[in-house]
Amino acid sequence: MTLIHGGQLHQVAAQYKIPVNNWLDLSTGIAPLSYAIPDIPLALWQQLPQKNADLLAAAQGYYQCSQPLLVTNGSQSIIKALPLLWAQKNSQVIGKLASRVYVPERGYKEHGQAWQDAGHLLCFYQDELPEITELTPYCVLVVINPNNPTGKLFSRETLQAYQQAIARLHGLLVIDEAFMDVIEKPNSMGGLVTHSHTLVLRSFGKFFGLAGIRLGFLIANDEWRKVFSNYLGPWQVNGPAQFIAQVALLDTDWQAEQKQTLSTLKATQVALLQRCWGDDLIATMHGCNLFITVTFHVENVDLKQGKSHFIAQQLYHLLCLQGVYVRLADENDTLRFGIALTKDLPKLEQALLNAKNQLVALTNLSSA
Ligand SMILES: Cc1ncc(COP(=O)(O)O)c(C=O)c1O
Repeated sequence: MTLIHGGQLHQVAAQYKIPVNNWLDLSTGIAPLSYAIPDIPLALWQQLPQKNADLLAAAQGYYQCSQPLLVTNGSQSIIKALPLLWAQKNSQVIGKLASRVYVPERGYKEHGQAWQDAGHLLCFYQDELPEITELTPYCVLVVINPNNPTGKLFSRETLQAYQQAIARLHGLLVIDEAFMDVIEKPNSMGGLVTHSHTLVLRSFGKFFGLAGIRLGFLIANDEWRKVFSNYLGPWQVNGPAQFIAQVALLDTDWQAEQKQTLSTLKATQVALLQRCWGDDLIATMHGCNLFITVTFHVENVDLKQGKSHFIAQQLYHLLCLQGVYVRLADENDTLRFGIALTKDLPKLEQALLNAKNQLVALTNLSSA
């Protein structure tokens, strides 16, 4: 099954018959400001990608881990390959003993899809992790921290308790830290991967605003790194992309400024959403400094339409009609906004106000 993702602007533009350049695209959690591409040595375009010790040293510093990392074509390549490699690693046991894979019911759906495609048994958890006492031998627990789209964040202490329990069960704890860069407190588990029962995935593209170069990292022990490296082959990430990441990961001044800017932009956008849509429409806003996920008061609309997810779907459509593209949840009941630049706020504000007025005209929602 093909999953729906944000970032499909060409498709949405064609659907709504609005030229691509006229859209405000807030459909992803990728930073709206990106790291400036440095001058790339010509040799990197000419040669095959090579092992880049400088990049790995820069990544170890940035992700604060002492063991080497594996550079990958985004964390997606690990997500896709892992279920097969996990089954191969445990081929003696899996099959005889169905290995349960716990994934968040709401969260980046590629995890669950990859495990399901490889024939594993999915167990969904809601906002809270399954009880430690429920975990079974050879289970896999996938934690997206912070979660996309809910913003739910687990502390390092909590995850360490799961790490120990899962190691005792010969299982695997997979922590996807794609959005961890914008979290203030040190919650990353990257420095705590000491055995084969924990993997940490890091995505370069989101915080650095360069998702197009397709680069990420796996933090894992020697054994797992070797398994993935053999499976993925020698030229996962092109040389120019590696060079850009090497420079960006060392640029601590830019990183500090980016964090501050994203924090300010996010706060401004939360206030704008609140002002335009108000408490009668918005139930909650969660997320992190790379996206804002809005849930709605369904009880405030006339549900004679027979659709309990009416508000989010309608608002998504009404925003699209004005050239504003946000992410409608797969469950059709929430909207996730990427972070807008200051220059785009007037367009966003007008679209939010218009969408609410049009929604009010369609329903019994109070316009107060
Ligand atoms: C939670 C999460 N993990 C992983 C990814 C994959 O990112 P990438 O392959 O660009 O590192 C995404 C992409 O949106 C994501 O939202």
